[in-house]
Amino acid sequence: MDADVVGRYRPALEHLGAKADLLLLAGDLTRHGTAAEAACVAREFGGLPVPVVAILGNHDYHSDEQEAVAAVLRDAGLIVLECSGTVLQCHGMRVGIAGTKGFGGGFAGACASEFGEPEMKAFTSHGRELAARFGESLAELDCDVRIALTHYSPVPETLLGEPLEIYPFLGSYHLAQAIDGAPGVGLAVHGHAHAGSERGTTPGGVPVRNVAHPVIRQAYNVYQLSSVLAPT
Ligand SMILES: [Fe+2]
Repeated sequence: MDADVVGRYRPALEHLGAKADLLLLAGDLTRHGTAAEAACVAREFGGLPVPVVAILGNHDYHSDEQEAVAAVLRDAGLIVLECSGTVLQCHGMRVGIAGTKGFGGGFAGACASEFGEPEMKAFTSHGRELAARFGESLAELDCDVRIALTHYSPVPETLLGEPLEIYPFLGSYHLAQAIDGAPGVGLAVHGHAHAGSERGTTPGGVPVRNVAHPVIRQAYNVYQLSSVLAPT
């Protein structure tokens, strides 16, 4: 997001308080990851009538200004997570949200392994380590229901529509393991897969929603946590 799109989301967000209790942003909030772009994001998503919980995506790391990007967003009142969590009160229910950018690596039967060159080991271990720390953040939340917020996908189902060859750059099974390893996760939300599909499920049965803007094609989607928790 840059100055060109200031005002693109705001009109739809002004009445968000009548439709939702919180807003989740699943990363790639900026185009090139600069603090200047983050100021535009802060203008667009700051001061909304509901809490805004965000993570950063790979675009937000592009200029090595991710700390400044997060700081600008926090100054605007957004809650920015990275292998950390927060608990919000919603209608008497404690909703815990843990978030991470996450990383790629692929999925069962077609994933990278920590073998060979140091570069391959670094690629693979980065995703595994982030997922492990994210899983700890998710599990330790003191809440009634958990939401997992990641940029990279935890499952291949929500990548359907993307070229199969790039799945290892779009998500990792380590994220699904982290989500399924925590109790009471009612929803997992991710972005990053612009040509993917909206709906999926972790192997443990947690509903997964790909909310990348080209997928949902509107400013936001509303998900009812009570309904995703209900047996289907
Ligand atoms: Fe991305």
